[in-house]
Amino acid sequence: MRGLITLLLALFLVSCNSSDDKHVFEAVSSNGVLKLTFNVTKEGAPFYVVTRENTVVIDTSFLGFEFKDAPAFHKNFSVKNSETKTNVETWSMPWGEQKDVVNNYRELKVMLQEKVSPERFLNIIFRVYDDGIGFRYEFPEQARLKDVEITEERTQFNLTQDYNTFWTPGDWDIYEHLYSTTKLSEVNALKYVGHVNLAQTYIPENAVNTPVTMVGENGIHLSFHEATLVDYSGMTLKVDTTNLSLESHLVGSENTTYKVKRSLPFHTPWRTVQITDNAPDLIASNLIVNLNEPNKLGDVSWFKPMKYTGVWWEMHLGKSSWDYGMEMVDGKWTDTGKAHGRHGATTENVKRFIDFSAKNNIKGVLVEGWNTGWERWIGFEDREGVFDFVTTYPDYDIDEVVRYGKEKGVDIIMHHESSAATETYTKQQDTAFALMQSYGIHSVKTGYVGKILPKGEYHHGQYMVNHYNNTVEKAAKYKVAINAHEPIKATGLRRTYPNTISREGLRGQEFNAWAQDGGNPPEHLPIVAFTRMLAGPIDFTPGIFNIKFNEYKTENQVNTTLAQQLALYVVIYSPIQMAADLVEHYEANPEPLQFIKDVGVDWEDTKVLNGEVGDYVTIARKERETGNWFLGSITDENARELDIDFDFLEDNQEYTATIYKDGKDAHWDKNPLAIDIETLVIRKSSQLKLRLAQGGGVAISIIKK
Ligand code: NOJ
Ligand code: CA
Repeated sequence: MRGLITLLLALFLVSCNSSDDKHVFEAVSSNGVLKLTFNVTKEGAPFYVVTRENTVVIDTSFLGFEFKDAPAFHKNFSVKNSETKTNVETWSMPWGEQKDVVNNYRELKVMLQEKVSPERFLNIIFRVYDDGIGFRYEFPEQARLKDVEITEERTQFNLTQDYNTFWTPGDWDIYEHLYSTTKLSEVNALKYVGHVNLAQTYIPENAVNTPVTMVGENGIHLSFHEATLVDYSGMTLKVDTTNLSLESHLVGSENTTYKVKRSLPFHTPWRTVQITDNAPDLIASNLIVNLNEPNKLGDVSWFKPMKYTGVWWEMHLGKSSWDYGMEMVDGKWTDTGKAHGRHGATTENVKRFIDFSAKNNIKGVLVEGWNTGWERWIGFEDREGVFDFVTTYPDYDIDEVVRYGKEKGVDIIMHHESSAATETYTKQQDTAFALMQSYGIHSVKTGYVGKILPKGEYHHGQYMVNHYNNTVEKAAKYKVAINAHEPIKATGLRRTYPNTISREGLRGQEFNAWAQDGGNPPEHLPIVAFTRMLAGPIDFTPGIFNIKFNEYKTENQVNTTLAQQLALYVVIYSPIQMAADLVEHYEANPEPLQFIKDVGVDWEDTKVLNGEVGDYVTIARKERETGNWFLGSITDENARELDIDFDFLEDNQEYTATIYKDGKDAHWDKNPLAIDIETLVIRKSSQLKLRLAQGGGVAISIIKK
């Protein structure tokens, strides 16, 4: 008996037979700083509280659900049982911001049962980390509840300060909005309704999308998000600007009277709050990936992180086009002799990108507009059956392009623009991925521009969550990795399915080519680094050298300096990083191009050296295999000086540092191309003062001597 008790204690198992008001159900982070407490009220309403060093961060916040044709889960519960456990493990990323990730949490599981008929069960699992908390609901198997139709989830985050908040609206159909910076009490998502430049948008409430990041008094930083979004709908957070609280507001569908339908048993995604003392620690946090399941795919070495170029920016600039000028005749795309001659994805043009990439240590070339159907995508209602993802335009010889790429050591990256016609894409996937496999092509950029078909579904609802996740699982069978644009948000599933290599899910570089609102302002990326980037890798497509591109467009430009474009290769993490500009723009600038040629894409370790949300950030990353370091620093519209200490370098090792910095008088608008390149020898004891111009940056390659 004594042995058994010891064993139970060793497992931190606490158990009680019935609800007990006086009993405290809690979990404390390994460093003792964060504490989560759970209980039910006299009415049996479940709630939790989070404190940080004994200060309340999340005050009494209720938890529950509403269902179609069934009583809600919001009161009459008692705690039947609870368990706690500790987990400390280290796991390895096949590629990533770092190699080894420590997953150290204390878990509290509470098992609730209704005290009244139908006496249903609900479990809630809380995990408390040094860098935040996560919790999810578990609907266990039970006799009196087989299926649920959830009309709303009622998860609250009741805050205690009017935080400075970095947010985008809770759009059900797109994440490509500019961030707003306001007090929590001043969030007004509805001001985004009717925004220009978006192929689809729907903002029903004063809600925000996640990750949403907040900065408060005494240095506290919070970021709200979710982890493991599987067979559920995306969560936006409704903002109560008077009471300073957030509440889950799930994305719905026009085709159903519920938002989520599930059969028991199942669990919801994790609701997460990253809680740190400073901005850099938010970026360093691994909470989101840690809450996901380990790799289910096993060996994924068929995908290799890489830099890539592509037939892409030229279309966004209007130099060439995706379409060829074919016509649909009797249901078939036909070359009726009306080709306009501006088609971008020609064999010859792609070979030009292959040659350039081969010369510059870039291993991939993306080809958009290679397949028939681009005459009938954006703006068309009836988009099903248009793209087939296997039929090439007449001027694109895929056999030859793949052969030529192999000869030069450059892979072709496939492109599948579904135009949000999901039924066609789902039907075509096996054929499309099999074609890729036959060519040895291991990655595809997918796209979902436009209103979702079937009509009435939204990009972030349960239907689409399943579509995106099924696509990743299916692709894995063909050794294909997915970089989705117009995706569902990243929720750390890359741990489980590493072939989820990257995604868009923010206002990317392309907006600078054509947005009617002036493009992405200089503060955009210093906000993104502390918001969207906490969710996972971003295919932002940096590296525009021809910042003003007046020969193509006079109304648009990139709103950063050239040096900042280089710094983005380090600041923004993605295992695929585009060198997005045109070959001729790179060839005209061989000196800054050297940084793109040298910079790594796969990291042993990452150090976030400094930063403030929305202002600036400096990140250093150590390349796997070589042990070389790369550093990127970016600022918003304000110039700054930052002191850098190189104490992260190895002992007794000298490095050649090539510094690409804003030139004298550089300025994102007035003088974006001014760049100075300097070479120094540095070591662990070195210190440097970085000077960043307005909208500027610094990139440094730190190569072992
Ligand atoms: C939108 C994507 O974000 C962009 O990168 C792509 O070129 C177009 N869709 C066409 O698929
Ligand atoms: Ca997009």
